Formats: sequence, C-alpha cells, structure tokens
Amino acid sequence: MKNNSNTNKFELCRFSVAPMLDWTDRHCRYFHRLLSSEALLYTEMVTTGAIIHGKGDFLKYSEEEHPIALQLGGSNAKDLAHCAKLAQERGYDEVNLNVGCPSDRVQNGRFGACLMAEPELVAECVAEMKSVVDIPVTVKTRIGIDDQDSYEFLTDFISTVSEKGGCEQFTIHARKAWLTGLSPKENREIPPLDYDRAYQIKRDFPNLVIAVNGGVKTLDESIEHLNHLDGVMIGREAYQNPYMLAEVDQKLFGSEAPIKKRSQVVEEMYPYIEQQLANGSYLGHITRHMIGLFQSMPGARQWRRYISENAHKPGAGIEVVEAALAKIPKELNV
Ligand SMILES: Cc1cc2nc3c(=O)[nH]c(=O)nc-3n(C[C@H](O)[C@H](O)[C@H](O)COP(=O)(O)O)c2cc1C
Repeated sequence: MKNNSNTNKFELCRFSVAPMLDWTDRHCRYFHRLLSSEALLYTEMVTTGAIIHGKGDFLKYSEEEHPIALQLGGSNAKDLAHCAKLAQERGYDEVNLNVGCPSDRVQNGRFGACLMAEPELVAECVAEMKSVVDIPVTVKTRIGIDDQDSYEFLTDFISTVSEKGGCEQFTIHARKAWLTGLSPKENREIPPLDYDRAYQIKRDFPNLVIAVNGGVKTLDESIEHLNHLDGVMIGREAYQNPYMLAEVDQKLFGSEAPIKKRSQVVEEMYPYIEQQLANGSYLGHITRHMIGLFQSMPGARQWRRYISENAHKPGAGIEVVEAALAKIPKELNV
C-alpha cells in the first residue's frame, strides 16, 4: 500500500487507470492494485448529488487501494468543495473533476464535457475545492466539444482553469466529444485521437502537470508518451486486459520486484473475496473484473466461461474461482 505522503503530490499521475463508470468500482481497484502497487487508481465518477443526497456510502474503499483519486461529477462550486473536503477526510490522495463525459444525463445536470464551454465556471469550481483541501485538485478534459475544437479553444480552457482556478494538473483525453448525435461509447471511438494537441499543451504550459489519455494500449506506448508529457492514463485496455498492469511498476517506475504471475494474483484475491463475501458482497460483483486476466492464454475461454456461468449463482464462493483457475493448464506456469 502506498500513499502520497513521501511523494511529490503531482508525481502520482505518471501512470493511472482511468475512471470508468460501472467498471472501476472498489473491487476492481483492489484487483488492479495487486497487479501494480504504483499505478494511480481512479474511482468511477461519483456525482455530488449522490454523495450529498444519496443513500449509501459512495466514498467507501479499502486502504490497500492507495494511491487513489476520487472523480467527481458536478458543477456547483459549493457542493464540489463539500465533496472534495469529504474526500480528503476519507483519505483520498487526489480529487478530480470530470469535464470529459458527454452523456445526455450528465449534460442535463450541466456537468461533464459540456463544461468545456464554461471555463470560468470550471475555474470557480476548482478554486472553491482548492480552498478547502490540500490534496491535488485535478481536471480530466477533452481537446474540444462539437465545433469548438480549435487549439485556441483548448488553450483558453486550460489557461482560464489554471490561472483563475489554480488547477495545476490536467488529464487530456486526446479526442473531442460530440455532445449530440454520438453515444458515450461512440464518443470514445469516432472522434480522432490527436496526441499532438496534448503535447503542445505541455510545451505551452510547461509548469502544468499534463497527462494524456485515449487509445493507449501498451506500456511501450506509454513510455513514448512520457517523453512528451508527465503522465499516461489507460482505461479500456487496462480493464479488458488487466495483466498489462503487471509490468507497470518495473517498466515505468523502475521497480526491481519480480513480476507476478496471473495465478498468484488470483490467489492473492482469495482473502479479499472471503472477507467481502462475509460482508454480504456477491462473488460475481468481484470476479466480473477478473475475467480478462488470462487473455490470449490457453484455457482463457474456459476460465472466463466458468466464472461467467457460476459466479452469480446464489451462495457462490471461493470454490468457483479455484475451479476456474484449475482450467488453466498448470504446466503453463502463468
Ligand atoms: C465503461 C466506461 C465508463 C467510463 N466512465 C467514465 C467516468 O466515469 N469518468 C470519466 O472521466 N471517464 C469515463 N470513461 C472514459 C475513460 O475514462 C477514458 O477517458 C476513455 O475510455 C478513453 O481512454 P481509453 O482509450 O484508454 O479507454 C469511461 C469509459 C468507459 C469505457
């Protein structure tokens, strides 16, 4: 487990796993943490409304998940500040504002990517959050929205939010978002990636900490991006092919620890799974994040299928995971 006490507070972003609604929940993050002790892990976006008015604890996580960043969705500066303070009190290492999500639901709430058109408001929100916390307040954004996709539009956004709001760190999803006409999924695939825009931002704002996101699939690509900027965030590939995270510490952080085998990671999940089941969690809610672990290995299909068919059954326990692991040929030693 790590926290930010000994690290420059902005060094956390060198490599991160993206916030992904319904995917990067606390079970997923615990699993990812076993694969990399260095990667910064983002929560799913949590709206200020859910935190302030919702039933249940939306800020719950396990201590092992550090370093961990809470991503907030919202545009009311007071509410965001209130939630940022709660995040700090609960021990989060960073709080991040979502200025990248294009879904209709989010636009109706006047937050997410549509906030790119309101840099003054974003600046006000960041300033208000920063006035109540010491942890970094960061912003995740796109390179543009709709027809507002010039480099000047992006620099105007970044300069307003950094100069007036005091934001020192941005993660740039290097494609624009269409606010109408495309689904959120299409908005992650159709608008073309333009990494040069993010690199240019780093050149034009050398004092800001800039991470890039979007379409990165390998650690070698990540290393190439790190030649141009401060951090890389990976979303879908890290979720669908989680074993890519197993070499993050060695390749990106200079760790000399041995790279864990997949089977070791599964076995390291057992105590957590037992504990969560004892607390009333369902096996399937935990194992659904693990099904990509053996991607492209012999036995991967059987592993996936066994878990998918059995983990949701009433009373399913650790024996399901053990049986699924037994589908992977032992002699592979993976
Ligand atoms: C299932 C899913 C849910 C997502 N939810 C969020 C979210 O809550 N907040 C956010 O800022 N981005 C969200 N994203 C976008 C990702 O954080 C990331 O910006 C995007 O997937 C591009 O990175 P990638 O190509 O590495 O996946 C989501 C993406 C996916 C696939």
